[in-house]
Amino acid sequence: ISLKPYNTFGIDVNAQFFLEISSVQELQEALGLQNFPQKFIISGGSNMLLTKDIDALVLYINIKGIEIIHEDEDVVTLRIMAGEDWHQMVLWTLHHGYGGLENMSLIPGKTGTAPIQNIGAYGVELKDVFESCEAMEIESGSIKKFSREDCKFGYRDSFFKNEGRGKYVIVSVCFTLTKKNHNLNTSYGAIEAELERQKIDRPTIKDVSNAVITIRQSKLPDPAEIGNSGSFFKNPIVSSSEFDTFITSYPNAPYYKVSNESYKIPAGWLIEKCGFKGKRYGDAGVHKNQALVLVNYEKASGKEILDLANIIIARVKEVFGIQIIPEVNIIK
Ligand code: EPU
Repeated sequence: ISLKPYNTFGIDVNAQFFLEISSVQELQEALGLQNFPQKFIISGGSNMLLTKDIDALVLYINIKGIEIIHEDEDVVTLRIMAGEDWHQMVLWTLHHGYGGLENMSLIPGKTGTAPIQNIGAYGVELKDVFESCEAMEIESGSIKKFSREDCKFGYRDSFFKNEGRGKYVIVSVCFTLTKKNHNLNTSYGAIEAELERQKIDRPTIKDVSNAVITIRQSKLPDPAEIGNSGSFFKNPIVSSSEFDTFITSYPNAPYYKVSNESYKIPAGWLIEKCGFKGKRYGDAGVHKNQALVLVNYEKASGKEILDLANIIIARVKEVFGIQIIPEVNIIK
Protein backbone atom coordinates (compact mmCIF):
# COMPACT_ATOMS: atom_id res chain seq x y z
CA ILE A 1 0.00 0.00 0.00
CA SER A 2 1.04 3.61 -0.48
CA LEU A 3 2.23 5.36 2.69
CA LYS A 4 1.25 8.77 1.28
CA PRO A 5 -1.77 9.18 3.62
CA TYR A 6 0.38 8.16 6.60
CA ASN A 7 3.11 10.82 6.42
CA THR A 8 2.41 14.56 6.59
CA PHE A 9 5.08 15.25 3.93
CA GLY A 10 2.78 13.31 1.58
CA ILE A 11 5.66 11.27 0.14
CA ASP A 12 4.40 8.46 -2.06
CA VAL A 13 6.41 5.38 -1.13
CA ASN A 14 5.08 1.85 -0.75
CA ALA A 15 4.95 -0.62 2.08
CA GLN A 16 4.62 -4.24 1.13
CA PHE A 17 3.21 -5.29 4.50
CA PHE A 18 1.05 -3.02 6.63
CA LEU A 19 -0.93 -3.56 9.82
CA GLU A 20 -3.06 -1.06 11.72
CA ILE A 21 -2.63 -1.53 15.46
CA SER A 22 -5.52 -0.53 17.71
CA SER A 23 -4.62 -2.09 21.05
CA VAL A 24 -1.59 -2.85 23.17
CA GLN A 25 -2.28 -6.56 22.76
CA GLU A 26 -2.36 -6.27 18.96
CA LEU A 27 0.97 -4.48 19.13
CA GLN A 28 2.48 -7.26 21.21
CA GLU A 29 1.19 -9.90 18.79
CA ALA A 30 2.45 -8.00 15.74
CA LEU A 31 5.90 -7.48 17.23
CA GLY A 32 6.07 -11.22 17.81
CA LEU A 33 5.41 -12.11 14.15
CA GLN A 34 8.55 -14.09 13.36
CA ASN A 35 8.10 -14.18 9.58
CA PHE A 36 8.70 -10.41 9.50
CA PRO A 37 12.04 -9.85 11.22
CA GLN A 38 12.04 -6.12 10.51
CA LYS A 39 9.27 -3.88 11.83
CA PHE A 40 8.81 -0.24 10.91
CA ILE A 41 6.71 1.88 13.26
CA ILE A 42 4.64 4.73 11.91
CA SER A 43 2.28 6.88 13.93
CA GLY A 44 1.32 10.44 13.00
CA GLY A 45 4.06 10.42 10.36
CA SER A 46 4.59 14.09 11.11
CA ASN A 47 8.30 14.05 11.76
CA MET A 48 9.73 11.79 9.09
CA LEU A 49 10.99 12.03 5.55
CA LEU A 50 10.53 8.76 3.68
CA THR A 51 13.06 8.40 0.88
CA LYS A 52 12.39 4.82 -0.27
CA ASP A 53 9.90 1.96 -0.18
CA ILE A 54 9.69 0.16 3.13
CA ASP A 55 10.55 -3.55 3.06
CA ALA A 56 9.76 -4.14 6.71
CA LEU A 57 6.32 -4.85 8.18
CA VAL A 58 4.82 -1.40 8.79
CA LEU A 59 2.88 -1.09 12.05
CA TYR A 60 0.58 1.92 12.10
CA ILE A 61 0.00 2.78 15.75
CA ASN A 62 -3.59 3.88 16.24
CA ILE A 63 -4.35 2.95 19.85
CA LYS A 64 -7.01 5.30 21.27
CA GLY A 65 -8.12 6.32 24.75
CA ILE A 66 -7.92 9.08 27.35
CA GLU A 67 -8.36 8.41 31.05
CA ILE A 68 -7.91 10.27 34.32
CA ILE A 69 -5.53 8.36 36.57
CA HIS A 70 -5.24 10.86 39.41
CA GLU A 71 -7.10 13.99 40.37
CA ASP A 72 -7.21 16.40 43.29
CA GLU A 73 -8.41 19.96 43.73
CA ASP A 74 -5.48 21.49 41.86
CA VAL A 75 -4.20 19.06 39.28
CA VAL A 76 -5.20 16.15 37.11
CA THR A 77 -3.01 13.40 35.66
CA LEU A 78 -4.18 11.95 32.37
CA ARG A 79 -3.11 8.85 30.53
CA ILE A 80 -3.35 9.38 26.79
CA MET A 81 -2.97 6.42 24.45
CA ALA A 82 -0.40 6.79 21.68
CA GLY A 83 -2.81 6.96 18.76
CA GLU A 84 -4.74 10.01 19.97
CA ASP A 85 -4.28 12.92 17.59
CA TRP A 86 -2.17 15.51 19.43
CA HIS A 87 -4.20 18.62 18.64
CA GLN A 88 -7.62 16.96 19.18
CA MET A 89 -6.29 15.78 22.56
CA VAL A 90 -5.10 19.32 23.42
CA LEU A 91 -8.57 20.68 22.56
CA TRP A 92 -10.13 17.99 24.76
CA THR A 93 -7.97 19.08 27.74
CA LEU A 94 -8.84 22.75 27.18
CA HIS A 95 -12.53 21.89 26.92
CA HIS A 96 -12.26 20.28 30.36
CA GLY A 97 -10.46 23.33 31.74
CA TYR A 98 -7.08 21.62 32.14
CA GLY A 99 -4.08 23.90 31.62
CA GLY A 100 -0.56 23.17 30.40
CA LEU A 101 -0.81 22.14 26.76
CA GLU A 102 -2.29 25.36 25.32
CA ASN A 103 1.01 26.67 23.86
CA MET A 104 1.42 23.39 21.99
CA SER A 105 -1.89 23.69 20.14
CA LEU A 106 -2.08 22.66 16.48
CA ILE A 107 1.15 20.64 16.42
CA PRO A 108 0.62 17.86 13.86
CA GLY A 109 1.08 14.23 14.85
CA LYS A 110 -0.07 11.80 17.47
CA THR A 111 0.49 11.80 21.22
CA GLY A 112 2.68 8.68 21.35
CA THR A 113 5.46 10.19 19.28
CA ALA A 114 5.47 13.55 21.07
CA PRO A 115 8.04 12.47 23.72
CA ILE A 116 10.52 11.16 21.13
CA GLN A 117 11.59 14.63 20.13
CA ASN A 118 10.19 16.46 23.16
CA ILE A 119 7.89 18.57 20.99
CA GLY A 120 7.65 22.22 21.89
CA ALA A 121 6.33 25.55 20.78
CA TYR A 122 6.00 29.13 22.01
CA GLY A 123 8.08 28.74 25.15
CA VAL A 124 6.68 25.39 26.37
CA GLU A 125 7.99 21.89 25.81
CA LEU A 126 6.35 18.54 26.36
CA LYS A 127 8.73 17.85 29.28
CA ASP A 128 7.14 20.72 31.25
CA VAL A 129 3.90 18.75 31.75
CA PHE A 130 5.22 15.22 31.22
CA GLU A 131 4.76 12.74 34.06
CA SER A 132 5.74 9.39 32.51
CA CYS A 133 5.19 7.16 29.52
CA GLU A 134 4.87 3.48 28.87
CA ALA A 135 6.63 1.86 25.95
CA MET A 136 6.79 -1.66 24.58
CA GLU A 137 10.23 -3.05 24.03
CA ILE A 138 10.30 -4.25 20.43
CA GLU A 139 12.55 -7.22 21.12
CA SER A 140 10.73 -8.66 24.12
CA GLY A 141 7.20 -7.27 23.83
CA SER A 142 7.34 -6.22 27.48
CA ILE A 143 6.06 -2.88 28.75
CA LYS A 144 8.44 -0.51 30.50
CA LYS A 145 7.58 2.67 32.34
CA PHE A 146 9.77 5.74 31.80
CA SER A 147 9.89 8.65 34.21
CA ARG A 148 10.76 12.16 33.10
CA GLU A 149 14.38 11.56 34.18
CA ASP A 150 14.53 8.27 32.25
CA CYS A 151 13.48 10.11 29.09
CA LYS A 152 16.51 12.49 29.22
CA PHE A 153 14.66 15.28 27.47
CA GLY A 154 16.60 18.00 25.68
CA TYR A 155 15.82 20.49 22.93
CA ARG A 156 13.99 18.36 20.34
CA ASP A 157 15.74 15.37 21.89
CA SER A 158 15.24 12.43 24.24
CA PHE A 159 16.40 8.94 25.22
CA PHE A 160 14.17 7.60 22.41
CA LYS A 161 16.22 9.46 19.79
CA ASN A 162 19.52 8.23 21.24
CA GLU A 163 20.19 5.06 23.30
CA GLY A 164 16.57 3.98 22.93
CA ARG A 165 16.36 4.59 19.20
CA GLY A 166 14.50 1.86 17.33
CA LYS A 167 14.06 -0.21 20.50
CA TYR A 168 10.67 0.89 21.84
CA VAL A 169 7.14 1.77 20.79
CA ILE A 170 5.51 4.29 23.10
CA VAL A 171 1.98 3.12 23.90
CA SER A 172 0.78 5.80 26.31
CA VAL A 173 1.85 9.12 27.81
CA CYS A 174 0.85 10.65 31.18
CA PHE A 175 0.63 14.41 31.68
CA THR A 176 -0.07 16.37 34.83
CA LEU A 177 -2.15 19.45 34.07
CA THR A 178 -3.55 22.23 36.22
CA LYS A 179 -7.23 22.60 37.10
CA LYS A 180 -6.82 26.09 38.54
CA ASN A 181 -4.09 28.72 39.00
CA HIS A 182 -2.92 27.94 35.50
CA ASN A 183 0.67 28.77 34.81
CA LEU A 184 0.17 30.84 31.65
CA ASN A 185 3.18 31.26 29.44
CA THR A 186 2.67 34.25 27.18
CA SER A 187 6.21 35.60 27.29
CA TYR A 188 6.98 34.36 23.77
CA GLY A 189 6.83 37.56 21.72
CA ALA A 190 4.41 36.41 19.09
CA ILE A 191 1.79 35.35 21.66
CA GLU A 192 1.92 38.68 23.52
CA ALA A 193 1.53 40.58 20.28
CA GLU A 194 -1.39 38.41 19.14
CA LEU A 195 -3.24 38.78 22.47
CA GLU A 196 -2.68 42.52 22.31
CA ARG A 197 -4.03 42.60 18.77
CA GLN A 198 -7.15 40.80 20.01
CA LYS A 199 -7.31 43.26 22.95
CA ILE A 200 -7.22 40.48 25.55
CA ASP A 201 -5.39 41.53 28.70
CA ARG A 202 -6.42 38.73 31.05
CA PRO A 203 -6.11 35.68 28.85
CA THR A 204 -7.53 32.25 29.67
CA ILE A 205 -5.88 28.98 28.60
CA LYS A 206 -8.33 28.91 25.68
CA ASP A 207 -7.30 32.45 24.63
CA VAL A 208 -3.63 31.41 24.62
CA SER A 209 -4.49 28.35 22.55
CA ASN A 210 -6.45 30.49 20.09
CA ALA A 211 -3.55 32.96 19.81
CA VAL A 212 -1.14 30.09 19.08
CA ILE A 213 -3.53 28.66 16.49
CA THR A 214 -3.77 32.06 14.75
CA ILE A 215 0.02 32.47 14.70
CA ARG A 216 0.66 28.94 13.45
CA GLN A 217 -1.97 29.24 10.74
CA SER A 218 -0.41 32.47 9.51
CA LYS A 219 3.12 31.04 9.32
CA LEU A 220 3.00 27.29 8.95
CA PRO A 221 1.48 25.38 6.03
CA ASP A 222 -1.37 22.98 6.82
CA PRO A 223 -0.11 19.46 5.96
CA ALA A 224 -3.59 18.64 4.65
CA GLU A 225 -2.99 21.22 1.90
CA ILE A 226 0.79 21.25 1.37
CA GLY A 227 2.94 18.34 2.49
CA ASN A 228 5.43 19.26 5.22
CA SER A 229 6.92 18.14 8.52
CA GLY A 230 6.99 21.42 10.42
CA SER A 231 10.49 22.68 11.12
CA PHE A 232 12.83 20.62 8.97
CA PHE A 233 15.97 21.71 10.87
CA LYS A 234 16.79 22.34 14.51
CA ASN A 235 17.81 25.81 15.52
CA PRO A 236 21.60 25.56 15.88
CA ILE A 237 23.18 26.12 19.29
CA VAL A 238 26.57 27.83 19.08
CA SER A 239 29.26 28.60 21.66
CA SER A 240 29.59 32.14 23.03
CA SER A 241 32.77 32.75 21.02
CA GLU A 242 31.11 31.62 17.77
CA PHE A 243 28.14 33.74 18.73
CA ASP A 244 30.32 36.84 19.25
CA THR A 245 31.77 36.52 15.76
CA PHE A 246 28.31 35.96 14.30
CA ILE A 247 26.55 38.86 16.03
CA THR A 248 29.34 41.30 15.19
CA SER A 249 28.80 40.54 11.51
CA TYR A 250 24.97 40.42 11.78
CA PRO A 251 23.98 42.75 14.62
CA ASN A 252 20.27 42.57 13.72
CA ALA A 253 19.98 38.78 13.79
CA PRO A 254 17.46 37.30 16.25
CA TYR A 255 18.81 34.88 18.90
CA TYR A 256 17.99 33.29 22.25
CA LYS A 257 20.49 32.99 25.04
CA VAL A 258 20.54 29.36 26.21
CA SER A 259 23.20 29.75 28.91
CA ASN A 260 26.31 31.84 29.52
CA GLU A 261 28.21 29.58 27.14
CA SER A 262 25.65 29.00 24.40
CA TYR A 263 23.19 30.76 22.13
CA LYS A 264 20.47 29.48 19.84
CA ILE A 265 20.15 31.09 16.43
CA PRO A 266 16.91 30.69 14.42
CA ALA A 267 17.74 28.49 11.43
CA GLY A 268 14.77 30.08 9.62
CA TRP A 269 16.56 33.43 9.69
CA LEU A 270 19.84 31.93 8.40
CA ILE A 271 18.02 30.13 5.57
CA GLU A 272 16.03 33.23 4.65
CA LYS A 273 19.26 35.30 4.53
CA CYS A 274 20.68 32.76 2.09
CA GLY A 275 17.80 33.58 -0.22
CA PHE A 276 15.87 30.30 -0.04
CA LYS A 277 12.60 31.51 1.46
CA GLY A 278 9.69 30.83 -0.92
CA LYS A 279 11.95 29.15 -3.50
CA ARG A 280 10.59 26.20 -5.42
CA TYR A 281 12.58 23.46 -7.16
CA GLY A 282 10.16 21.20 -9.02
CA ASP A 283 7.67 20.09 -6.39
CA ALA A 284 10.09 20.58 -3.48
CA GLY A 285 10.35 23.98 -1.88
CA VAL A 286 11.00 26.26 1.07
CA HIS A 287 7.82 27.67 2.61
CA LYS A 288 7.09 31.30 1.82
CA ASN A 289 6.25 32.35 5.39
CA GLN A 290 8.71 30.24 7.39
CA ALA A 291 12.03 29.25 5.83
CA LEU A 292 12.56 26.49 8.40
CA VAL A 293 9.79 24.47 6.78
CA LEU A 294 10.43 22.44 3.61
CA VAL A 295 7.35 21.61 1.58
CA ASN A 296 6.14 19.06 -0.95
CA TYR A 297 3.86 20.91 -3.35
CA GLU A 298 2.50 17.69 -4.77
CA LYS A 299 4.69 14.98 -6.15
CA ALA A 300 8.17 15.59 -4.76
CA SER A 301 10.05 12.45 -3.83
CA GLY A 302 11.76 12.11 -0.47
CA LYS A 303 15.05 12.21 -2.35
CA GLU A 304 14.19 15.60 -3.92
CA ILE A 305 13.35 17.06 -0.48
CA LEU A 306 16.56 15.61 0.94
CA ASP A 307 18.64 17.03 -1.93
CA LEU A 308 17.15 20.46 -1.27
CA ALA A 309 17.88 20.10 2.46
CA ASN A 310 21.51 19.26 1.68
CA ILE A 311 21.88 22.27 -0.63
CA ILE A 312 20.51 24.50 2.17
CA ILE A 313 22.83 22.96 4.80
CA ALA A 314 25.87 23.51 2.55
CA ARG A 315 24.92 27.09 1.72
CA VAL A 316 24.25 28.08 5.36
CA LYS A 317 27.62 26.60 6.30
CA GLU A 318 29.36 28.50 3.49
CA VAL A 319 27.76 31.86 4.31
CA PHE A 320 27.66 31.77 8.12
CA GLY A 321 30.07 28.98 9.03
CA ILE A 322 27.22 27.45 11.06
CA GLN A 323 26.20 23.81 10.76
CA ILE A 324 22.46 23.19 10.76
CA ILE A 325 21.10 19.70 11.21
CA PRO A 326 17.73 18.15 10.32
CA GLU A 327 15.17 17.77 13.06
CA VAL A 328 13.08 15.46 10.93
CA ASN A 329 13.84 11.75 11.03
CA ILE A 330 15.17 10.85 7.58
CA ILE A 331 14.40 7.28 6.57
CA LYS A 332 17.09 6.14 4.14
N1 EPU B 1 12.69 33.91 11.16
C1 EPU B 1 13.10 34.53 10.01
N2 EPU B 1 12.75 33.95 8.82
C2 EPU B 1 12.04 32.80 8.74
C3 EPU B 1 11.65 32.16 9.93
C4 EPU B 1 11.99 32.73 11.14
O1 EPU B 1 13.74 35.57 10.03
O2 EPU B 1 11.75 32.37 7.62
C5 EPU B 1 12.99 34.55 12.46
C6 EPU B 1 11.72 35.13 13.06
O3 EPU B 1 11.47 36.42 12.59
C7 EPU B 1 12.03 35.13 14.53
C8 EPU B 1 12.89 33.89 14.70
O4 EPU B 1 13.41 33.59 13.40
O5 EPU B 1 12.78 36.24 14.91
C9 EPU B 1 12.15 32.71 15.28
O6 EPU B 1 11.06 32.38 14.44
P1 EPU B 1 9.77 31.58 14.97
O7 EPU B 1 9.19 32.23 16.16
O8 EPU B 1 8.88 31.36 13.80
O9 EPU B 1 10.32 30.21 15.52
P2 EPU B 1 11.44 29.21 14.99
O10 EPU B 1 12.61 29.32 15.90
O11 EPU B 1 11.67 29.38 13.54
C10 EPU B 1 10.69 27.29 16.58
C11 EPU B 1 10.30 25.83 16.50
C12 EPU B 1 8.89 25.70 15.94
C13 EPU B 1 7.95 26.41 16.88
C14 EPU B 1 8.38 27.89 16.96
C15 EPU B 1 7.58 28.65 17.96
C16 EPU B 1 12.35 24.62 16.18
C17 EPU B 1 13.18 23.80 15.24
N3 EPU B 1 11.23 25.10 15.68
O12 EPU B 1 10.74 27.79 15.25
O13 EPU B 1 8.56 24.31 15.97
O14 EPU B 1 6.60 26.34 16.43
O15 EPU B 1 9.76 27.97 17.39
O16 EPU B 1 7.90 28.24 19.25
O17 EPU B 1 12.72 24.77 17.35
C18 EPU B 1 8.48 22.31 14.71
O18 EPU B 1 9.31 21.84 15.50
O19 EPU B 1 8.04 21.61 13.75
C19 EPU B 1 8.04 23.68 14.86
C20 EPU B 1 7.21 24.25 13.99
